[in-house]
Amino acid sequence: MKGAFLHSLGLCLLLASVRATDLSGTWKADLVRRGDVHQPLYLVLRQSGGRLEGRVFAPAGGELPLLNAHFEGGDAVFDTQFGMHYRLRSEGPSLHVTVRYEWRPTDETTAIRVADTEINPPAVVPLPALRLVPDNGLARTPPMGWNSWNRFGETIDDRTVREIADALVSSGMAAAGYTYVTIDDTWEGERDATGRIRPNGKFPDMKALGDYLHNRGLKFGIYSSPGTTTCAGYTGSYGHEEQDARTFADWGVDYLKYDWCSAGRTYRLEERRAACQRMGEALAGCGRPIVYSLSESSPGSDVWLWGPRTGANLWRTTTDIHDNWVEMEQIGFNQGNFTPYAGPGHWNDPDMLEVGNGGMTDTEYKTHFSLWCLLAAPLIAGNDLRQMSAATLSILTNRELIAVDQDPLGKQATRRLARDGLEVWCKPLQDGGMAIGLFNRTKETILSALTWPELGLLQPPVSLRDLWEHRDLKAAPDGYRSRIPAHGTIVLRVR
Ligand code: GLA
Repeated sequence: MKGAFLHSLGLCLLLASVRATDLSGTWKADLVRRGDVHQPLYLVLRQSGGRLEGRVFAPAGGELPLLNAHFEGGDAVFDTQFGMHYRLRSEGPSLHVTVRYEWRPTDETTAIRVADTEINPPAVVPLPALRLVPDNGLARTPPMGWNSWNRFGETIDDRTVREIADALVSSGMAAAGYTYVTIDDTWEGERDATGRIRPNGKFPDMKALGDYLHNRGLKFGIYSSPGTTTCAGYTGSYGHEEQDARTFADWGVDYLKYDWCSAGRTYRLEERRAACQRMGEALAGCGRPIVYSLSESSPGSDVWLWGPRTGANLWRTTTDIHDNWVEMEQIGFNQGNFTPYAGPGHWNDPDMLEVGNGGMTDTEYKTHFSLWCLLAAPLIAGNDLRQMSAATLSILTNRELIAVDQDPLGKQATRRLARDGLEVWCKPLQDGGMAIGLFNRTKETILSALTWPELGLLQPPVSLRDLWEHRDLKAAPDGYRSRIPAHGTIVLRVR
């Protein structure tokens, strides 16, 4: 009895002490990311009795209001948009902060009180007046290479990039045309006192890494964002565009992927073109030829209309691809409207390849690859080249398909026919011929019999070649009959 009484007295005292801690004020915590990058997290709280309001501000992620804030026992608990769940526990003068995410491991950290004035928005940098940035003369055919994001995400580091570069060469992919090796997001560290960007602990020496790639005949690609932070919350180029372009040139960078993503927190939508133009001009003036790739896929962006004016050589036309048939199909077969915007020096980018990442069958990967080649899409492999199957390698290095993608005429295919899950896409080629893709989007084999006009030809072709079978075929007078497996593809080249 006495024990129970003392226990509940203790509990009351504990609750009273918790409640006595008024959380109102500005708190700062440090989140440690890969590469030993420290990202500040501010909690701006207002407590009145059992009521808690406020916002979470991460320079790396913008500002989000507290949702469903309440107390559980002594802990303050709330959510924010984008699936983050916070729990704050008073520990003397500080707060123990636990952040659970839906997409990454839980963070635990300590927050201390700081002055309200510590949260400084970045100084506003005026945007340039809109103008046409001249064509840089690069990317006369769609860029080919490898990018770290699809397979490695935040885990990419210097050693992996070097090993991938070696595999690119030893596998024969480099010889087949894959030359740009791009480190995507999460390489960025902090800026030094002069504002120069430094790589984080995962990348000890970017210049040396660039040399390593160049010594193997490869080219060096890197990633940044127009915002204060990148998509994954690392340092962005905001206010440092010219300086970053010069730094990239010093490191020997040949390709920049410039990702809008988080810049929506820094700029208004109507400022997109000027913000991307700023980097386009910075690259034009940095003294090194650098392919400029915009990654901008927010709704209503219409980047294909203004992207070329910013000096960009390619621009994303879709949200992120993932390694499954449904998303690949949804992206790939919806590229038809962008055909007019592709051409030498300026390409639509339906996002990188997933071939070999394991989420689709080899038949589906052939379809993915065929479609991207017909679309004159950049061919940026996204798999682990150090351990790919023979089937993956043979898909990625199908030189006859690559020749279709890299055809100097630079035309993107258009959809010629769509009937009961069978689609025909035609891409005009420099030699006056055409590449024709027959795609089976259904889960059953299709036995197709198409007339030559249905395949975009007025008469039987003089020459007809199957680009997956690598064989010449004899053209029948009435048309082309074939058996296309579920989710499979046939690509023909005709003259
Ligand atoms: C965005 C881009 C991706 C990748 C990530 C990196 O989602 O679309 O391709 O660059 O950012 O954070």
